[in-house]
Amino acid sequence: MSLSVKHLLGIRDLQRSDIETIFQTADSFKDVLQRPIKKVPTLRDTTIVNVFFENSTRTRISFELAEKRLGADVVNFSASGSSVSKGETLIDTVNNILAMKVDMVVMRHSATGAPHFLSKHIDVPILNAGDGINEHPTQALLDAFSIREKLGSVEGKKVAIVGDIMHSRVALSNIYCLKKLGAEVTVVGPPTLIPKYLANALGVNVTYNLREALEWCDVANVLRIQLERLKMPLFSSLREYSLVYGINKQLLDSLHKEVVIMHPGPINRGVELSSDAADSKQSIILQQVENGVAVRMAALYLLSGKTPNITVTGN
Ligand code: CP
Repeated sequence: MSLSVKHLLGIRDLQRSDIETIFQTADSFKDVLQRPIKKVPTLRDTTIVNVFFENSTRTRISFELAEKRLGADVVNFSASGSSVSKGETLIDTVNNILAMKVDMVVMRHSATGAPHFLSKHIDVPILNAGDGINEHPTQALLDAFSIREKLGSVEGKKVAIVGDIMHSRVALSNIYCLKKLGAEVTVVGPPTLIPKYLANALGVNVTYNLREALEWCDVANVLRIQLERLKMPLFSSLREYSLVYGINKQLLDSLHKEVVIMHPGPINRGVELSSDAADSKQSIILQQVENGVAVRMAALYLLSGKTPNITVTGN
């Protein structure tokens, strides 16, 4: 099994068969992660560097766990405290790391296109862990994998993506991924946070009415308001946003069916999701996080070019 791409830069570049291959491989790794010894030697002779130029909790820990559970040697790099603060360029930074015989790079960067730029200058596989407002491919893969796990398949399912679509790399990667897998997608949020091109360019439905979207969908993937990326006020206040687009348990209970609630994290509790909705039985937020490790193991393994070896040792 292999992928049609050398790097995982975005879902836009993947074939549906690539996504299905990642899911089948993640199924096997998820089995491994249920065992007492949650480790395989698949990437035992592989060194992976996690290069994070932007903050992260889930993605960074999830990649590191995935790498360690595959038996890889792992090096972590943060821009803060590095020679980036002395003016070193991205290519110099990464080439210096690669000179120490690193085999794969996982990178998060606040600049859209940073991993694509890097892929033109280095030979080893790069996995994009989020680039600016562009893509966050492993998040979309783990989201779709979680829908498949919860509802049996993604094909034909109705998914509402709620909130700050404009600034969200999670939204764009999710739209590409869900559409490739045959889901119907509606984006919902304030008009100022939904790009005008979206419906025509990406084939999604657009609505500004949260209740209408929730009555329609099987799954609501609720996004964080990306306050750090707002260059100007695009809604009057967080309080008003929460009143119009926030999801709470009372709203969920008033619908005529049960909607699965997802969120990529970190959650602004009380803004896009109330605690009683985020922590409800309808929420699969922590299952998303759990699935992230298996999905990232699959992506790392498939891009590594190693021969199949998903057997557990010492168990
Ligand atoms: N979902 C996600 O990317 O979270 P982090 O920013 O914590 O990695």
